[in-house]
Amino acid sequence: MDKTIDGRTAVSALPGGGVAMHVLPELPYPADALEPHVDARTMHLHHDKHHAGYVDKLNKVLEDYPALQGKSATWLLLHADELPAEIRTTVIRNAGGHVNHSLFWRAMAPAGSGAPEGVLKDAIKKDFGSFELFKKHFDDAGAAVFGSGWVWLVRAARTDGPLEVMTTSGHETPLTQGCYPLLVNDVWEHAYYLKYENRRPDYLHGWWPVVDWQEAERRFKGSDQTAQQRWEAEGGHLLRAL
Ligand SMILES: [Fe+2]
Repeated sequence: MDKTIDGRTAVSALPGGGVAMHVLPELPYPADALEPHVDARTMHLHHDKHHAGYVDKLNKVLEDYPALQGKSATWLLLHADELPAEIRTTVIRNAGGHVNHSLFWRAMAPAGSGAPEGVLKDAIKKDFGSFELFKKHFDDAGAAVFGSGWVWLVRAARTDGPLEVMTTSGHETPLTQGCYPLLVNDVWEHAYYLKYENRRPDYLHGWWPVVDWQEAERRFKGSDQTAQQRWEAEGGHLLRAL
């Protein structure tokens, strides 16, 4: 049975006749909680408008494809070659925006946690030389992204894979390149322009105090699984069955 959600009709796609739509996750803290490093107005616009827009467009483009409506955004990204050609680009861009922003909100926390500890601290020292060298590598990579994109700390999916800093363009994600994301920063202008204007390096440098290293370490401890297994397990929070 079809249902109307937010003024649109979604076709039943789940066993038992439920309707699945992608939903905007709530911020895990108040929008002003990351002040002064990330300002509240930017957070409101970024989450409530930009991220919400990707979720809306993803649901919209899937309206006529009920077989895809029960799939998580992660599944859609990992199975892009199975998507109909006429919607593939739109689905990839908006599912990517949805997944990346969902990770980004959880990469931050009020007051952050200062610096990595435990096994992640040891891994960063092993693969980058020191925490300070890692941060410089991350900042330099983020500053060098041409146009809009993301900068990541990832772990290669293979067993004992090393940590690496990588960047992606647009809303591309490391998970389609065999890498598992541990930490991410958004370097689209909408992430920083209101406060930092054109000074992206200042934004990157000023972001470290709000990094949630406990979340990064939690992800590191789970990164021995393959990226697809891990993301499939995490995909549930990106999709709500109504
Ligand atoms: Fe963004």
